[in-house]
Amino acid sequence: MANIFSTIFGGGSSSGESALGIDIGSSSIKVVQLTKKGGKAILETYGSLALGTYGGQEVGRVMNLKTEELSKATLDLLKEASTTTHLTGMAIPSSSSLVFTITLPGILSEEQLKSIVPNEARKYIPVPITEVSLDWSLIPQQAKADQPDNRMQVVDDVEQKTDVLVVAIHNETVARYKEVLEKTELETAFFEMEVFSAIRSTFSREFAPVILLDMGASKTKLSIVEYGIVRVFHIINRGSQDITLNISQSLSIPFAEAELRKRNVGLEENLDKQVAGIVKLSMDYILTEANTVVLAYEKKYNKAISKVILCGGGARTLGFLKYATISFNREVAYGNPFSKTEAPAFLSPVLETSGPEFAIALGLALRQIS
Ligand SMILES: Nc1ncnc2c1ncn2[C@@H]1O[C@H](COP(=O)(O)OP(=O)(O)OP(=O)(O)O)[C@@H](O)[C@H]1O
Ligand SMILES: [Mg+2]
Repeated sequence: MANIFSTIFGGGSSSGESALGIDIGSSSIKVVQLTKKGGKAILETYGSLALGTYGGQEVGRVMNLKTEELSKATLDLLKEASTTTHLTGMAIPSSSSLVFTITLPGILSEEQLKSIVPNEARKYIPVPITEVSLDWSLIPQQAKADQPDNRMQVVDDVEQKTDVLVVAIHNETVARYKEVLEKTELETAFFEMEVFSAIRSTFSREFAPVILLDMGASKTKLSIVEYGIVRVFHIINRGSQDITLNISQSLSIPFAEAELRKRNVGLEENLDKQVAGIVKLSMDYILTEANTVVLAYEKKYNKAISKVILCGGGARTLGFLKYATISFNREVAYGNPFSKTEAPAFLSPVLETSGPEFAIALGLALRQIS
């Protein structure tokens, strides 16, 4: 079985060598290399590369490249970032996976789950079960999990049921990524669904429910995470590229220029009222859907979520932190994945601003050395 899940707070092996994480997003590739010294994660190198240019398109474009082109882009990035290790963790986009929760009656052992989960999962998966790799993790019942020392006790014997979070990834997706990596002579240490990598790099040991919002170019991914476990996962079918496309269309300007305006103006009306208005409309769509999911969770479980963590390039939109704080009406902060690493002090400001984009790549590298 593919090792899609991992322990979010720890796990992996510590070889003392460098560890690489590669996040192939729909618009850009991100890479981070870390090493472990004296129990600390040391940042060795990192970098990103827009995929648009590999298909004769603009920066910021969502691309659907052939494996050869992706390999070429990955190789170029590794060279540019001067990475030195060949062993890498690789992110699987959430849009290529299906995530759902199943509730089973009774308290079941891991052994029992091995036979029951694949059978139950069939009902949720629109393709033959042989075409997917399945993985799952037990969701702790809150009664027990409320006591941090008892996090490992995963079932509540009062309710007599077992909740299981299941991830299904199409085998073709894994095969495609393997092919991309083969041509780069990289070795895959593991594949992991991107959201788990992002959680590892942006969360501290938060037990209360927290929202993680990853605004990429093509899609916005929302996870509600409690006790380090994904309770709800939702994909909003809009991303930051849609904002560029809206600006381009509304103002009849080329994509590249619209992308620039999006980055220079964002939601700041005092910089350009017209552009900010367009960005606001697109953001409202995303935030309204996000809030619907959050409110439904709060109602269902009768608990409040007090914090939102932002990652993904789209979250860097000027004024977004303030705008999201008002929209969610709760504490909103940027994920600062590089803060989990040791890096030269002069890099701190740039690492803090670019951090949200590297959350996934960094989480992948961290898994190997923590
Ligand atoms: N400073 C900025 N202001 C506004 N948008 C930005 C900024 N920097 C990057 N972006 C946008 O962020 C997006 C890229 O983010 P990211 O690299 O997280 O996406 P991705 O991983 O390629 O996409 P996905 O996760 O949807 O597959 C692009 O749409 C880009 O225009
Ligand atoms: Mg992404």
